[in-house]
Amino acid sequence: MMKVLVINGVNLNMLGIREVDIYGANTYRELLLYLKTYVKNKKIKAHFYQSNSESKIVRKIQKAYQKYDGIVINPGAYAHYSIAILDALRSVNIPYVEVHLSDINKRENYRHQLITNQSAIKTIVGKSFAGYLEAIDELMKVVGE
Ligand code: DQA
Repeated sequence: MMKVLVINGVNLNMLGIREVDIYGANTYRELLLYLKTYVKNKKIKAHFYQSNSESKIVRKIQKAYQKYDGIVINPGAYAHYSIAILDALRSVNIPYVEVHLSDINKRENYRHQLITNQSAIKTIVGKSFAGYLEAIDELMKVVGE
């Protein structure tokens, strides 16, 4: 049973409301339902966490130490500048995949740089909700069951 922690960072609780032309009309709740349905009949135990606070995200990652086999993270805007979240991810030594719903490379210049993905086993951008599934699959490949 692979234990995976899915972390969504700042403003991802606003899915379905925020910039629907970019992020789509589905809500954060719908994202969770979609992911829970996906893992249901697989050998995966998934936990979900969302916070707008950098320090709470760091704390959640620290607490994952020796408790999870993999992390899927969409840090939101923190991805572009949070060395603290990167350091936390490195500290716990858990393989992680970074996901971005939108294709950040085709957007504003200030979204082109990513910090938090520097030790990620993979970064998936521009695939909307399906990106999270691909991230879970990737962790399954690396971690195994
Ligand atoms: C995002 C991309 C970020 O640039 C942005 O700040 C977000 C969402 C994405 O999922 O596409 O909040 O992480």
